[in-house]
Amino acid sequence: MDRLIPEDRPALRRLCRVDEIPQGGAKGFAPAPGCFTGLFAVRQAGGVRVYVNACPHLGVSLDWAPDRFLTADGQHIVCSTHGALFRPDDGACIHGPCMGAALEAVLIHIIDEIVFVPESAGC
Ligand code: FES
Repeated sequence: MDRLIPEDRPALRRLCRVDEIPQGGAKGFAPAPGCFTGLFAVRQAGGVRVYVNACPHLGVSLDWAPDRFLTADGQHIVCSTHGALFRPDDGACIHGPCMGAALEAVLIHIIDEIVFVPESAGC
């Protein structure tokens, strides 16, 4: 786990504490100031992943309501527009019109149980 932010690391944006993302669930985040696209985080057994909230099919947001990014069984990320399904672990589309494409993953840093992303993520 990182404890220090070296000066040569890109500027980081604080997203939230890890425990603010429900285990087995997801949480959405508004775009950073000056940016257009939000982010969302999923937290599963393999840890936390963050993706840009844009479907590879048409570029629209995936969620149909706040923090609603997962299928009812929590096994996949789902796009609310045409129902594409994505693997939470790597964002790969496994069903739907963008099959073979993937969500844009965001590099995260977890420092003292707080999730940080590059300030430019989603811009
Ligand atoms: S916009 Fe997401 S599947 Fe079409």
